[in-house]
Amino acid sequence: MDKQEGLLCIFGATGDLAAKKIFPALQQWSDESLPMGRIWCLGRRPLDTEQFIEFIEAKGDVQLSESLRNQLTYHKLEFNDSDAYQALAERIHAEEGDRAGRRLFFLAVKPDAFVPIAKELHRVALLTRGHEEHRLVLEKPFGNSLHSADAIQQQLLQWVSEEQLYRIDHYLGKEMIRNILTIRFANRIFSESWHGGAIERVEVTSVETAGVEERVDYYDQAGALNDMVQSHLLQMVALVAMAAPEDLAPESLRRAKIDILNTLRPDAQGPQVIGQYAGYSEQVPESTTETAIKAVLRSDSPQWAGTQFIIRTGKKLSEKRTEIRLSYRAMPLCVSCNQQIAAEPNQLVIEVFPQEGMHLQFNSKIPGYEYEIEQVLADYCHSCRMIGNKPEAYVKLLKDVWKGDKTLFTSFEELQVQWRIADSIRLDARKGEMVVYPAGSADFLK
Ligand code: BG6
Repeated sequence: MDKQEGLLCIFGATGDLAAKKIFPALQQWSDESLPMGRIWCLGRRPLDTEQFIEFIEAKGDVQLSESLRNQLTYHKLEFNDSDAYQALAERIHAEEGDRAGRRLFFLAVKPDAFVPIAKELHRVALLTRGHEEHRLVLEKPFGNSLHSADAIQQQLLQWVSEEQLYRIDHYLGKEMIRNILTIRFANRIFSESWHGGAIERVEVTSVETAGVEERVDYYDQAGALNDMVQSHLLQMVALVAMAAPEDLAPESLRRAKIDILNTLRPDAQGPQVIGQYAGYSEQVPESTTETAIKAVLRSDSPQWAGTQFIIRTGKKLSEKRTEIRLSYRAMPLCVSCNQQIAAEPNQLVIEVFPQEGMHLQFNSKIPGYEYEIEQVLADYCHSCRMIGNKPEAYVKLLKDVWKGDKTLFTSFEELQVQWRIADSIRLDARKGEMVVYPAGSADFLK
């Protein structure tokens, strides 16, 4: 496709996500060569393109190259201002001439703006329902409950078809999360012991030190559950727990994830814990929104009988870390039949951040004449092996949208099951007390 024949429109271009993730990703992609022509940056602020670039560079702490800058055009647009869409359409049609091609609309906005934007884009003939080259990229969360997700989907389908929708979950673009399938299904040593008989606990953790900062408007409506658990963390659980897909086709992967998600429910014994960091209520007085959560799930699948799935996430905690930790059942070692040596349980940790890699804790004899056991570590550093630019999640995902590859995007059916789980965690968690924790805490989520 000719470079001039495609465009990208970013709604919410002055927002946090655009500055911190989307533009740095576009810069990285641009270093390799961007396939599209103009990039329309849409936001509510009254800026010209030069001012917009300065704003993004300062906010996102990113330096945009000359060639990327030349592709950007800022256009002021309020989501419900029909005239602004009309003006945008005229500018785009004038630029495209008779060479109209692929159009990507990235909606980095709150879910209640999805439908009005799609409707307006359709009205001004920028988005045609059923036109496979017109694609809508939707940031999470898709709604704030199963009920609202259903309503958004139903209305969206008036203006676009499901094939045109790309629901982004940027965790699915992360290297080590993409590596889960290989680790699990290309290694007999792991695949043979990947079940409840061997694994006592699966802990999926994504905690951070930052607070909600400027995103308080959005965050106070979402909370940790809708912001992180419903999407990123449940997708990680699905990838860890699902049965082997028939093949790596998008539909087979989705089927396998849906099947396992359908077996998950909050553990009746819990405990589900929710917390809010001290000081949050100064930003939003009397808010009951959780900024941290621990949820315990069980699966009805026979493969996972007896395994606990523990999910943890939160803001203003003691560290920024994302990992999946598998704790195996302990094995008592009988040396001579009246002497049992307690061997520590094995642990396998898939590290997503700050390291990218994997480590395995196993038992070994302490060197020497005696028969004593100690835990030792086999450590694999994945990122150490990357040469040049480390592939960033958003670059991978944007490239996939451009290509039309939906493997790493969430289908609506998957999303519905994720919402069902999130809604039931919410119900259970709200029965408990909200813990108010000081910044830098960790213990209450243990
Ligand atoms: C986003 C959430 O999806 O993920 C943020 O909205 C969170 O609240 C972020 O901080 C964490 O992403 P990462 O890639 O830094 O782990």
